[in-house]
Amino acid sequence: MQNQLHRATVSDIKGIHAILLKGAEEGQLLPRSLSDLYNRTRDFYVLKDGGEQIVGCCALAIVWEDLAEIRSLYVDTSIRRLGLGRLLAQACFDDAVRFGLRRIFTLTYQSDFFAALGFQEVDKDCLPQKIWADCIHCPKYPNCDETAMQRTL
Ligand SMILES: CC(C)(COP(=O)(O)OP(=O)(O)OC[C@H]1O[C@@H](n2cnc3c(N)ncnc32)[C@H](O)[C@@H]1OP(=O)(O)O)[C@@H](O)C(=O)NCCC(=O)NCCS
Repeated sequence: MQNQLHRATVSDIKGIHAILLKGAEEGQLLPRSLSDLYNRTRDFYVLKDGGEQIVGCCALAIVWEDLAEIRSLYVDTSIRRLGLGRLLAQACFDDAVRFGLRRIFTLTYQSDFFAALGFQEVDKDCLPQKIWADCIHCPKYPNCDETAMQRTL
């Protein structure tokens, strides 16, 4: 069946929670609590397998007047390298433009993927302090080994 992109609804949150746990097991993503995810429902796009099974997700979090973050991007291992990560990210870029935001950043271990999407590595210090608020929940805090990348839309 054809994978389909949707805006998330609250009924998708448990599925998003489950696939983000897989990303955490791969060591690529931070797990997120159900409470945090329900709060952030409007940030998410999901990819479904043609039925109700969630096989990918991505969120755009607005951070400041000129800055948004791409976060919680995950594509199931069985369907990687088919352009679906790009599709999810592009849906978030389109949202950013719709909200008048031109600068997008991410913290990632997947620099090559984000470079393919037009991101460039930046010094973490050029990102506002506010973005580190979530990081206190990270087991690696304060020794972040992710790469900060950004692109202008
Ligand atoms: C990163 C991830 C979302 C990529 O999803 P995907 O559907 O496989 O990516 P796409 O097929 O859309 O790839 C888009 C481009 O990135 C490249 N790319 C994808 N994964 C790559 C990788 N691991 N290394 C190098 N390039 C990669 C593709 O070749 C493609 O480039 P092209 O269009 O120039 O050919 C997926 O590997 C994943 O879910 N990883 C685990 C979670 C994660 O790391 N998320 C990012 C956290 S910020």
